[in-house]
Amino acid sequence: MTLEQAKEKLAKYGQEHVLKYYEELSETEKQTLLDQIEATDMSILEACKHKGDLAKKGVITPLAAMQLNEIEANRDSFTETGLAAIRAGKVGAVLLAGGMGTRLGSDDPKGMYNVGLTRELYIFECLINNLMDVVRQADTWIHLFVMTSDKNHESTTRFLQEKKFFGYQPEYVHFFKQEMAAATNYEGKIYLEEKGKLSTSPNGNGGWFVSMKNSGLLDVVHRAGIEWLNVFAVDNVLQRIADPCFVGATIQKECVVGAKVVRKNAPDEKVGVICLEDGRPSIVEYYELTDELMNARDENGDPAYYFGVILNYLFKVSDLEKLAAGNMPLHIVEKKIPCLDEQGDPIKPEEPNGYKFENLVLDMIHQMDSCLPFEVVRNKEFAPIKNKTGVDSVESARALLQENGVVL
Ligand code: UTP
Repeated sequence: MTLEQAKEKLAKYGQEHVLKYYEELSETEKQTLLDQIEATDMSILEACKHKGDLAKKGVITPLAAMQLNEIEANRDSFTETGLAAIRAGKVGAVLLAGGMGTRLGSDDPKGMYNVGLTRELYIFECLINNLMDVVRQADTWIHLFVMTSDKNHESTTRFLQEKKFFGYQPEYVHFFKQEMAAATNYEGKIYLEEKGKLSTSPNGNGGWFVSMKNSGLLDVVHRAGIEWLNVFAVDNVLQRIADPCFVGATIQKECVVGAKVVRKNAPDEKVGVICLEDGRPSIVEYYELTDELMNARDENGDPAYYFGVILNYLFKVSDLEKLAAGNMPLHIVEKKIPCLDEQGDPIKPEEPNGYKFENLVLDMIHQMDSCLPFEVVRNKEFAPIKNKTGVDSVESARALLQENGVVL
């Protein structure tokens, strides 16, 4: 893109300020900035102007979860079906590790965090150990796709290679990078991270399938005959991955998505709950739950919106492929964005200072025709690490790991 073309594009979106230091840049830096301006989707920034409209929900009604008693009664049959699918190579796993983990506050990718106390035990290692349980049970390797972002790709791949994938078969590990989106101040103006570089952040975890497709990895999916992808977050160290019972239940119930859910521990707990929205599966975020919904009861007298999602979903690939071209809703999230101050010096803010633009994996559920919410025992499968201390922290996850017999 030429300077003239860049100016034209920037003027269209009111972003001319990003050329403030252009004349100070070397020729290479100038070209890099122009290339970045060309590649950046600025149309999404317009969303700031009608931010209030973005969160509009349809009519919410309950969606019954398959609860523990039903799962126990059918465990053998579900597990048999799931293991058969895994052994036939029909199940792959997708680790979402492109996030910035700003709340944890470590400079390294979250998966490199050492949760061990008397020995090294990294978050990535916990996840791979959990997946290895199924590899052993099924006696077959499972393809593991790892999503990173521009911000952590190098360090993530280097770390896992150095650690020899914690014993996982290297040919079964595939990396791909997610897309980035510009980050802005509260007026929707793009921040500069350096004089010749726009501030960007990963575009949320909802772009994973499109990014996987763009990176060419669907070839691997097709060649291997993978029909189901189990998507999961990097931060839940107790996560069961490619869980045969869960896979089997989703297949037997003929759903195109399975969602692992836990019983909330309080009506106002900060987790998204599974529901129907305008008759289709959906997730209502905790901040969208009205008092009426929070206190609603189903026909058995139980709380109607009581099963929280834990970012562990099993998607049917053929249905994902129908969606890949569809538009995902945009979420505008307040975050701490490293940027230049008025004097052009780099700063790392202590408090949120602007917006990131994200797509979320939970919105993919609403685009699917059917979903099986599958209850799991909270203390056995849900130990998220979002913060250093307190709720959902390194501390709480360590306690849960120990409760489950993991030596730290
Ligand atoms: P979170 O919502 O906890 O976001 O991600 P985060 O960026 O990791 O952490 P904070 O909010 O800055 O503290 C949930 C899961 O989605 C992945 C994360 O890596 C984590 O597994 N994720 C999130 C991505 O892969 N890409 C993204 O752009 C955002």
